[in-house]
Amino acid sequence: MLVTQQPVLRKFWYAVMEMSKLDAGPQPFMLLGENIVLWKKSDGTPAAARDRCCHRTAKLSKGYVEGDNIVCGYHGWQYDCSGACVKIPQFTNEKIPPGARIDTYRCQEKFGYVWVALDEPLVPVMDTPEEGNPEYRRIHQFDEAWNTGALRLMENSFDTAHFSFVHKGTFGQFEQPKPEFFDIRETDYGFEAETIITINNPPQSHRITGSTEPTTKRHFKNQWHLPFMRRLGLVYPSGIHHTIFTCATPIDDRRIQIIQWLYRNDTEEQCPAALLNEWDVKVVAEDKVILESVDADAPVDVSRLAEEHMKSDRPGIIMRKRLLALLKEHGEKEVFSQAA
Ligand code: FES
Ligand code: FE
Repeated sequence: MLVTQQPVLRKFWYAVMEMSKLDAGPQPFMLLGENIVLWKKSDGTPAAARDRCCHRTAKLSKGYVEGDNIVCGYHGWQYDCSGACVKIPQFTNEKIPPGARIDTYRCQEKFGYVWVALDEPLVPVMDTPEEGNPEYRRIHQFDEAWNTGALRLMENSFDTAHFSFVHKGTFGQFEQPKPEFFDIRETDYGFEAETIITINNPPQSHRITGSTEPTTKRHFKNQWHLPFMRRLGLVYPSGIHHTIFTCATPIDDRRIQIIQWLYRNDTEEQCPAALLNEWDVKVVAEDKVILESVDADAPVDVSRLAEEHMKSDRPGIIMRKRLLALLKEHGEKEVFSQAA
């Protein structure tokens, strides 16, 4: 699926970067092929606009912020959050032309990230019971660009058969390649998939799992939220809750920004955030190598029923079915660049 060619995908909220990045001034980001600029207003909330000055097209992300407004670094034209040009420094008494404006986008902060929707969103950003709950801490994990498709990362997030191979260096059991399968319940937001998986538990992960046994179990409640976000609720037999949010924010048809954060119901003393991130960087690097080798766009077609022989492909098949239904509901046909 060429995500930039499917207008309905503009009607969702996407996490684009950590809010704290805006402390350094306006920041550029590409979302669904569109260059946007993000900045922080005087009340601390974020704003987003097209990253293109309407005077002579300079990128506004090269400019600076004044109060609530973004100022072009080329000749100083200044735009408010509605996109109207409110100041042209070279003018004295002349009126600013009404056509002097830029497109702006819906923008908000949530979970410590900036979220942007290019068009009127169909659903709000989800809530989660861990946020603001004093029993949980929130830990930022990753914010980086990968050369893969958004759907590829989502499929992978629900593919139990890759653990033994891709993650044989961390938690995967290479000698036991037969995967556990998810029980899948479809929902309005996508689906929830549940299973219990046995994992290797090397010393480096003992404080993460809360167990010193050589293997332990993970109870997965893994939610897929249309189109490209997942919430993975993991519970270990030790009683530790480990809830991961992963956003495959589509930069364009072949690149994503992977943004991931985590909630834990333990303390920094019990398991330092640096240790959690060091381990997860290792695990996710294993996924990155393989996901950057796959075709970002090749359709894994529902009609390829051979895939059904491996029930571990079912989540990906349901994702595709739901995405195709979404396109149909909005009068769109899937656009892709090559045959399967
Ligand atoms: Fe932006 Fe001239 S190009 S002010
Ligand atoms: Fe993986």
